[in-house]
Amino acid sequence: MNLNLEANLSQIRSLFPVTRELVYLDLGGRAPLATPVRAALDAYLDDCMYGRIDKSVLFETTEKVRDQFAALINCHPDEVTYTKNTSEGLNMVCTAMQWRSGDNVIICPELEHPNNIYLWLNLRQHGVEVRFVHHENGFMPVDAMIAAMDERTRLLTASSISFSPGFRTDLEKVGRACRANGTVFLVDGAQSVGVSHTDVKQMNIDALSVSTQKGMLGLYGMGFLYIRRELAEKLRPAYIARFSIDMGNADAHESDFGGSDFKFMAAARRFDLGNYNFPAVCAAHASLELILKIGTKEIDAYVTSLATKLADGFTELGLPVCGGAPGPHTGQIVTVGQYGSGGDSGTNDELLNGLYRYLLANKVKLSMRRGLLRFSMHIYNNMDEIKVVLGLTRKYIGELK
Ligand SMILES: Cc1ncc(COP(=O)(O)O)c(C=O)c1O
Repeated sequence: MNLNLEANLSQIRSLFPVTRELVYLDLGGRAPLATPVRAALDAYLDDCMYGRIDKSVLFETTEKVRDQFAALINCHPDEVTYTKNTSEGLNMVCTAMQWRSGDNVIICPELEHPNNIYLWLNLRQHGVEVRFVHHENGFMPVDAMIAAMDERTRLLTASSISFSPGFRTDLEKVGRACRANGTVFLVDGAQSVGVSHTDVKQMNIDALSVSTQKGMLGLYGMGFLYIRRELAEKLRPAYIARFSIDMGNADAHESDFGGSDFKFMAAARRFDLGNYNFPAVCAAHASLELILKIGTKEIDAYVTSLATKLADGFTELGLPVCGGAPGPHTGQIVTVGQYGSGGDSGTNDELLNGLYRYLLANKVKLSMRRGLLRFSMHIYNNMDEIKVVLGLTRKYIGELK
């Protein structure tokens, strides 16, 4: 069943109690829970408390959620494995590849979360060269990254939307170049999946790692890793356990041992290990149902329109919006400030530090990243909230004069 976003905005918003307390613009940190997600979690906890847990039902739900995630990004469920967070998924790809001295990896260090940098630096011990390609005013240096590839480039990694300044990467272009070069294209989707439309086939993405607490409106402690079938079947996971193994019988018990000659499960399923994060699975079942009912193309267009309005409004008020006028780089994140200045607790601009405190004091939840004020949105936000933030900002600036 489809749920039309524009026609049902207030009904969708009412599923998020946070909207009655705050203007919540901190999806980049984590999402607030919706009532059906909380209800799914409560039901799971009640089952735990009353001894009603039925393992077969939990496994069924786990597979349903795998199917939902596959539908979300347009892949086959066999191409999806469970992780505990984005960082683990990235490391799972890194450690399953057979690295040789002289191989190289390409990355833009300024735009990646540190959790997508250290793992590659760690490969230097195997003689792998880590090629840093520097950002262009906060934009992913797509052409320079492509130009930096050669026949020894085994992997190129980029975030789909950077955590700061929050611009979209042209994934399709990078993906096409990587596929032509035989280079693995690994995407950190932490800031985008669930809120920005993602089609791994169309974007030529080989692997994508994400956690459920942001765009997927779920909990901390669970994530997904997509690996394209042809790549996954060449990889050898660093960790394996019973669920990595194909017993030739779907009903085999989780404690069965099939012998020392084992066969891996299909594609990314070989990365599954032991029991899953069932509370987070139950939460994701409810949150993904909502997202899929609405549709990610619709969500993407909606949040981008909110972000565009907010960015234009800040510019009219004379604030330095990162990236200038909204354009193809605009997704659900708007950042304000001088990119590259300040840290996660303050900018080098006293007006912006004051505005940050003023907005928080007036119940606008936002964050500060890399010296920028970061505003990030999802389906529970609306145009009235954008007007509230712009109104508060106008008032704050006016009071300074
Ligand atoms: C782009 C990006 N990558 C990775 C991470 C780390 O995510 P996780 O804690 O799920 O590993 C974050 C966290 O905010 C992020 O924004």
